[in-house]
Amino acid sequence: MPHIKWTSDLETGDQKVDSQHKQIFELLDLLSSSIKEKKTKKAIKETVEKLTTHILEHFRDEENLMSMCAYPHLAEHKIIHEKTFDQAATLIEKYRNEELEIATPLVVFLTQLITTHIQKEDKAFFDWLLRRE
Ligand SMILES: [Fe+2]
Ligand SMILES: [Fe+2]
Repeated sequence: MPHIKWTSDLETGDQKVDSQHKQIFELLDLLSSSIKEKKTKKAIKETVEKLTTHILEHFRDEENLMSMCAYPHLAEHKIIHEKTFDQAATLIEKYRNEELEIATPLVVFLTQLITTHIQKEDKAFFDWLLRRE
């Protein structure tokens, strides 16, 4: 599997948001290489925990930014964040319950989920912001 990397087409123009998005990609990549290198379950679990914490923090910060800007689609965006997080958390929970080996396809799925969200809904917010200014 190739390296998971944030690419400039995901740029929003907001430094904090972009750096948080980059961090999420870095953790996904770390998780992917930990799996490939067959790191211990404990090490993989730690990375998963870091990743989920970062995603939650990012969603919260992004929602605060949207709220400060009085973004009219904040409620919808929040629901999408919840759904995205729930999908990720369900998979991670299965892994915790040992029903599922945390594996590359799971990381690919999570990466796709986050990428699509940035490309679609996050960008919609920044486009709205630009048009408003
Ligand atoms: Fe985001
Ligand atoms: Fe978002």
